[in-house]
Amino acid sequence: MNIAIVGCGFVADYYVKTLALHSELKLLGAMDRLPERASRFSTYHSVPTYDSLADLLTDSRVELVLNLTNPGSHYEVSKACLEAGKHVYSEKPISTEIDQAKELVALAAAKKLYISSAPCNVLSETAQTVWQALREKAIGEAYLVYAEMDDGMVHQMAYDQWLSESGVPWPYKDEFEVGCTLEHAGYYITWLVAFFGPAVSLTAFSDCLIKDKQTAVPLERNAPDFSVACIKFASGMVARLTCGIVAPHDHELKIIGEKGILYTEDCWYYGSPVYIKKRMRIRRKTFINPLRQKYPFVRKPGGKIGYKGSQQMDFCRGVANLAQAIKTGGKPKLSADYCLHVNEIVLAIQNALDTGAPYQLTTTCEPLEPGF
Ligand SMILES: NC(=O)c1ccc[n+]([C@@H]2O[C@H](COP(=O)([O-])OP(=O)(O)OC[C@H]3O[C@@H](n4cnc5c(N)ncnc54)[C@H](O)[C@@H]3O)[C@@H](O)[C@H]2O)c1
Repeated sequence: MNIAIVGCGFVADYYVKTLALHSELKLLGAMDRLPERASRFSTYHSVPTYDSLADLLTDSRVELVLNLTNPGSHYEVSKACLEAGKHVYSEKPISTEIDQAKELVALAAAKKLYISSAPCNVLSETAQTVWQALREKAIGEAYLVYAEMDDGMVHQMAYDQWLSESGVPWPYKDEFEVGCTLEHAGYYITWLVAFFGPAVSLTAFSDCLIKDKQTAVPLERNAPDFSVACIKFASGMVARLTCGIVAPHDHELKIIGEKGILYTEDCWYYGSPVYIKKRMRIRRKTFINPLRQKYPFVRKPGGKIGYKGSQQMDFCRGVANLAQAIKTGGKPKLSADYCLHVNEIVLAIQNALDTGAPYQLTTTCEPLEPGF
């Protein structure tokens, strides 16, 4: 499938890095509204550039556009792509406004086009193994999830020295202004909606604890740097998700069931082992056996792709799955209604900074099928 990239920033290098794992995807070219970004990307990756989005969209060979722009541009870029008859795979979220996200999904449907969105780590061996363990009732009935997306005090780290492979600096201003919830909650919300089906309501608390992050360029807005949400799923499952850049790094997922605990340490690593600790009964007391058992992977994970953090992910796995669905006319794993539902949950947590009220979800989605 012929693809093109809009947005030649930090994450674009990650996509190109894993493109090689998906030979069916052929990158025809890329564009950025900053010409120097496009030209650096082109030189480093030997990829042609387009002078403008209009140029890219008039290239009739391009079938699928990867929207790798900043979240604030997702809506306008994806809309232009759909209007030009291109399928879209957008970095998360589909849009920072739920009404715009709904509009894009409706536009895609009206034009018989596909729209899908990152993250795609639900297609990881780790996620699929956790899901298999749940289906096999390895911990009996599951009741409760604790999911952590804490990244440590990022504003105290040497983030001004973080460079992508081709030398693009980590976009700290945009990251802090968008906030860690909108950036990272999706890595676990996608899993939870896949495992437990659609959510019906959530109660969230969001706050900006460190208002002055002492950035070289002042921030224009304070996004939440800590959020916690309790999400109720239609199936009865309840999940507590924490996102933050204040508490120490912790990406653990823990699912509590009647017969034990199922857990993994990092959803950003597609080969993060999955463990079970069984509940034991001795006389009249029950306790969790501290000895853990490794749950076998549903398939052997590949090795680490990058060397740290989100660089370990195969970013193109969702794109490849979407391309396959486009080719066959089937439904992608990360279908539009699923991505929209995830988008709504994440925004509801994010917006608790202003509303702080329980939120009734207005979207739902078809259950996801397990598998890659
Ligand atoms: N930085 C990361 O580690 C990371 C990891 C995973 C996902 N993401 C996601 O990837 C997306 C991009 O993040 P990034 O880190 O690459 O940001 P970035 O700022 O490094 O790059 C974004 C690029 O998009 C370009 N752009 C913005 N609006 C545009 C428009 N209308 N037309 C053309 N180009 C436009 C910018 O000029 C910039 O070069 C975001 O949605 C982010 O959430 C980032």
